[in-house]
Amino acid sequence: MTYLLQAKDLYKTFAGPKPVEILQGVSFDLKAGESLAIIGKSGSGKSTLLHILGTLDTPSKGSVTISGKNAFSHASELRKHTLGFVFQSFHLLEDYTLLENILMPAAITRKSTKPGSDSFLIAKELIKFIGLADRENTPVKFLSGGEKQRVAIARAFCNNPDLLLVDEPTGNLDPINAAIVQNLLLEGCKKQGKSLILVTHDEEFAFLCDKVFLLKEGQLLLKK
Ligand SMILES: Nc1ncnc2c1ncn2[C@@H]1O[C@H](COP(=O)(O)OP(=O)(O)OP(=O)(O)O)[C@@H](O)[C@H]1O
Ligand SMILES: [Mg+2]
Repeated sequence: MTYLLQAKDLYKTFAGPKPVEILQGVSFDLKAGESLAIIGKSGSGKSTLLHILGTLDTPSKGSVTISGKNAFSHASELRKHTLGFVFQSFHLLEDYTLLENILMPAAITRKSTKPGSDSFLIAKELIKFIGLADRENTPVKFLSGGEKQRVAIARAFCNNPDLLLVDEPTGNLDPINAAIVQNLLLEGCKKQGKSLILVTHDEEFAFLCDKVFLLKEGQLLLKK
């Protein structure tokens, strides 16, 4: 069996006057195309774990293997080509247009983003997919929170990543926009055969994924 991602015995301690052991032996495997949700109380370490899985932070101990590669020695390559991120606070470039934001991962990996290029055509499809085709040249700062989160999802899909890492995508949204974002993520991943690791407080959303883990006292407990 080949796995897309394997986390082995992850520990994370934050130093300080009273060091906190946030992760205490986290291990799990994720297959290609599988979706996994992580739930848990505020402060339990969900974002910390997601950042480590996405090579944005390093563990105190343990390993992460993505597509058969040690994640930390291939971090930049994996971030460019294999991983897509969606954060709670969007992390969009506010003065740039929707289209420019969605094309940003392509621009970073030095693909052509000119009209007619592959990336440009993919970005146009993604704008249609998120229902904002008529706003492609609008600077992102003029969008609502729900619309911004849809742009962040389109951007995460732009480079055709194998795995999306998503942190509280509906945390700041009203129920209607939360449902839109939820559907875009689940549908988008399913249609394109992408794997998903989702951190959420919304248990209903979590249980729509193939697997659910509860992060409690530094360990993952299988809930589904
Ligand atoms: N860089 C850091 N230095 C010290 N402590 C940190 C650091 N980052 C996070 N922590 C602490 O680690 C704990 C876990 O934080 P984390 O952000 O992972 O929680 P979370 O489960 O995502 O919470 P929430 O649901 O509120 O987003 C918190 O107590 C936090 O204060
Ligand atoms: Mg968090």
